[in-house]
Amino acid sequence: MTDDTDNQPRVWACPEHQVEYGPDRIGERGYRMDWHCPDCERERFRTERALQAEHLRYEHWKHSSGVPTRYRCAVPSSIQPLSPSAKSLRAAVHAYTGDLRARYEAGSGLVLIGPPGLGKTLALAAIINEACKVYRGPVYAIWPDVLAALKAGFGGAKDDPRREAVERLRDAPFLALDEIAGVREASDFDHGELFGLIDFRYREELPTLVAANATAAQFPVLVGERVADRLQETGPQLVLTGSSQRGKAVIDGPPAFEEPASSMKVRIHSQGAWRERTINFRDGRIAA
Ligand SMILES: Nc1ncnc2c1ncn2[C@@H]1O[C@H](COP(=O)(O)OP(=O)(O)OP(=O)(O)O)[C@@H](O)[C@H]1O
Ligand SMILES: [Mg+2]
Ligand SMILES: [Zn+2]
Repeated sequence: MTDDTDNQPRVWACPEHQVEYGPDRIGERGYRMDWHCPDCERERFRTERALQAEHLRYEHWKHSSGVPTRYRCAVPSSIQPLSPSAKSLRAAVHAYTGDLRARYEAGSGLVLIGPPGLGKTLALAAIINEACKVYRGPVYAIWPDVLAALKAGFGGAKDDPRREAVERLRDAPFLALDEIAGVREASDFDHGELFGLIDFRYREELPTLVAANATAAQFPVLVGERVADRLQETGPQLVLTGSSQRGKAVIDGPPAFEEPASSMKVRIHSQGAWRERTINFRDGRIAA
């Protein structure tokens, strides 16, 4: 209904969503509608949330994932099919990362064992890099370093963050534990810490991936039967063979996780016209 005075009803239509809106229009719930198209607003909100979540995943990857600098560019295709063993490693990593949500739901892991320089760390890093794009919080850690940090923390102040070195790995959505058999003359305490961590994740069905410089026969002896047994159940074990590729094959390329855009423009139909709004991000948060 139109008025012939100046008091035109404040109602507009969004050409994209075919929605009429405006303060003179009563919405489905019986309230006056807003000055903007509600569908445009909803889309803006969704876009903002998605970008915010990506920023948070990126910030975690960058600062807290533990992936070493050398392996920041590692992706599944960085693993070159240099030998039959590298071929199966490459296939296993592609298979694993092909459906990370399914791996997460099933709590499935991977056990990589073999001599030095065969791409075990490369494979773990590639998986964590991929998982960081989808989940917030996957972690790569070197087991002997974790234990050393824990012990150093006990020698420090009560609130020394290193005391949480093992604790903080418990809930990671994906955990890659490298050099799991690398603790020399592991004590009962060391075994207990490893068992506690692996068993917690096993019970909670959280994916754990491990690598060890060991033979198939040494592996259960070095990590403990009960740890080996649990890992055996949650994922395939790959025994790598061949000679070290360290210094021969090089991995390089752009960072596996590209930094998300720091700002983005969204279009909103408001008071009868398209208006552009810019959403800015700083340190992973929406900036005012
Ligand atoms: N299949 C491969 N494709 C490409 N590069 C490889 C491959 N295997 C090994 N490399 C190269 O060798 C280097 C060493 O690999 P990586 O660190 O993964 O070895 P590792 O199996 O973890 O050895 P270690 O048991 O000594 O830790 C990598 O940085 C990479 O450059
Ligand atoms: Mg390694
Ligand atoms: Zn609209």
